[in-house]
Amino acid sequence: MGELSRVSITIDTELLLRFDRRNQERGYTNRSEAFRDLIRDELNRDDLQAAGEVVGTVTLVYDHHVRQLTERLTEIQHGFHAAIISTLHVHLNHDTCLEVIIVRGAAGDVTRLAGQLIAIKGVRHGKFALTAATAGS
Ligand code: NI
Repeated sequence: MGELSRVSITIDTELLLRFDRRNQERGYTNRSEAFRDLIRDELNRDDLQAAGEVVGTVTLVYDHHVRQLTERLTEIQHGFHAAIISTLHVHLNHDTCLEVIIVRGAAGDVTRLAGQLIAIKGVRHGKFALTAATAGS
């Protein structure tokens, strides 16, 4: 860390309480570090999008019994094959599958791919995360 600056912010009390609870759950021992991480994440995302090429993951949890769901997932992924590096599939239990898709490519393409996958009917949880390819400060 370089030279430090101290800032003061005004924040809704309820929002701050939620933030503190969240930080505690994530194991933060001080609020400043949690704020710094949020700011770094946000700036990283901007840098990645400005660079045009992004790396990330799409995580999906779904019930494979839902009609046409697995076919639709496969069809969409084939449509974006150039943006998909690898896919991990785990059968969590009798009904539920977890899939993690590692993506790389133009921000617009991977964002569209993630959006289409997460929006499929029957996908119970979906999360798209962009990752910095290089170490940030
Ligand atoms: Ni499965």
